[in-house]
Amino acid sequence: MKGLLEICYLIGSVTFIVGLKMMGNAKTARKGNLIGAFGMTIAILGTIFLFRTEHTTPSAFKLVLIFGAIAIGTAIGWLTAKKVEMTKMPELVSMFNGMGGACAALIGLTEFQHNIGNPTALSFIVAGMVIGTISFSGSIIAYLKLSGKLDKPIRLPQYNMLNNIVLLAIVVFAVFVIIKSTGLPLAIIWVLFAVAIVYGVLFTIPIGGADMPVVISLLNSFTGLAAAFGGFLYDNKPMLTGGILVGSAGTLLTLAMCKAMNRSLTSVIFGAFGGGSAAASGDSVTGTIKDIQVSDLAVLLNYSKKVVIVPGYGLAVAQAQHVIHELEKLLEERGVEVKYAIHPVAGRMPGHMNVLLAESNVEYEKLVEMEDINPEFEQTDVVLVVGANDVVNPAAKTDPSSPIYGMPILEVDRAKHIIVNKRSMSAGYAGIDNLLFYDPKCSMFFGDAKKALTELVAEIKTL
Ligand code: TAP
Repeated sequence: MKGLLEICYLIGSVTFIVGLKMMGNAKTARKGNLIGAFGMTIAILGTIFLFRTEHTTPSAFKLVLIFGAIAIGTAIGWLTAKKVEMTKMPELVSMFNGMGGACAALIGLTEFQHNIGNPTALSFIVAGMVIGTISFSGSIIAYLKLSGKLDKPIRLPQYNMLNNIVLLAIVVFAVFVIIKSTGLPLAIIWVLFAVAIVYGVLFTIPIGGADMPVVISLLNSFTGLAAAFGGFLYDNKPMLTGGILVGSAGTLLTLAMCKAMNRSLTSVIFGAFGGGSAAASGDSVTGTIKDIQVSDLAVLLNYSKKVVIVPGYGLAVAQAQHVIHELEKLLEERGVEVKYAIHPVAGRMPGHMNVLLAESNVEYEKLVEMEDINPEFEQTDVVLVVGANDVVNPAAKTDPSSPIYGMPILEVDRAKHIIVNKRSMSAGYAGIDNLLFYDPKCSMFFGDAKKALTELVAEIKTL
């Protein structure tokens, strides 16, 4: 039986690694996800039917409970994931991540009583429980903020110091529990759990709502770490592999996002992150703007050699991914070279634009990353910015007082013509004006992205 269980675990671990690798490419991502889910199913079934210790006696009643819970969880997860809109994805990720953290916390709360007197096991239990609990309560707050149910950052007086004191108290308390190891009252783990809940809340409430994707990614890595501690505790290979993969992927993603938004990880962890209002400083811009009519734009694009499309958050909100793909195909039929310039934080979550454009079957090879596309703008006839703002704002390079100063941007101002599609002159996520719109080479193409692009496609077809 043990040999069979080891085989199930081996399949689980290998499929996680293969699945994750396949998720690195839009073409294979779906299949990679399914392969990982298949491995997870094998590992779960193996654990239920083949894993035995003195605490796991299989009874029909327990099996009914387990499969009942699996059925309810599957139904809720399936329906929620099916219904969710692309722009609401960060909320879903934070909720699912919170559930992962809660699972890790439950393992700690249950296993504590069986391992009193065993400092090694206690160290895994306490670490997994504390980190999982922080991830759980932090993710719930993140979910509430992203869904608009908690819309303002709440900053207690001296919140930075308060958070660090609570964190220090948790560490000291946890080390005491592990070192003392014997003669501990069972309630002590619940006290630690309660303090970790409080820290998760305190850690997340000061942060601005739209900054949450970075925090979610960090909390995601916490959940992975907590699960990995569970893997050590049970000597369970898929739990360990899965936990380490989630932990390291979450950490790398957090670092990549911090870099792309020009923030340091220490400022995220120690609470200064998101501290300033998004609409903070940055000189307000004055000047004249010009707009372009759909007929003129159609001619301009139709007779261009090279067009680069810059998708942003507004494209996702307008659900204009299908019509932008139609525009791309139409222009290509007429001999225009079309590419998409992808900024790492365009939109509101990691990979937002890649996922959105993949949904409408845009070829992955056409999506060019910032470092690679920037040198190409000089040879570009028209840059068409659709619902993007901050990621093309030259203030990031030229205005040291701007909140986005230092953030790498798509250097669209190097192209021959710049067309910006948005509904108004409103600011983007950072809440600041954009000097680009006043550039003599820039014309505004006002309107909702889906509606405006649909008209544009129709106009080009008449040429
Ligand atoms: P933003 O700077 O947020 O600009 C989006 C623009 O889209 C707005 O100016 C808005 O202008 C326009 N828009 C909204 N709805 C529209 C519609 N229906 N049709 C056409 N335009 C519409 O977006 P971005 O350039 O993609 O930059 C992303 C920002 O989010 C960055 O500041 C980034 O740091 C931040 N952020 C990103 C992430 C990740 S991981 N992606 C995470 C956290 C924060 P109008 O209202 O005038 O239409």
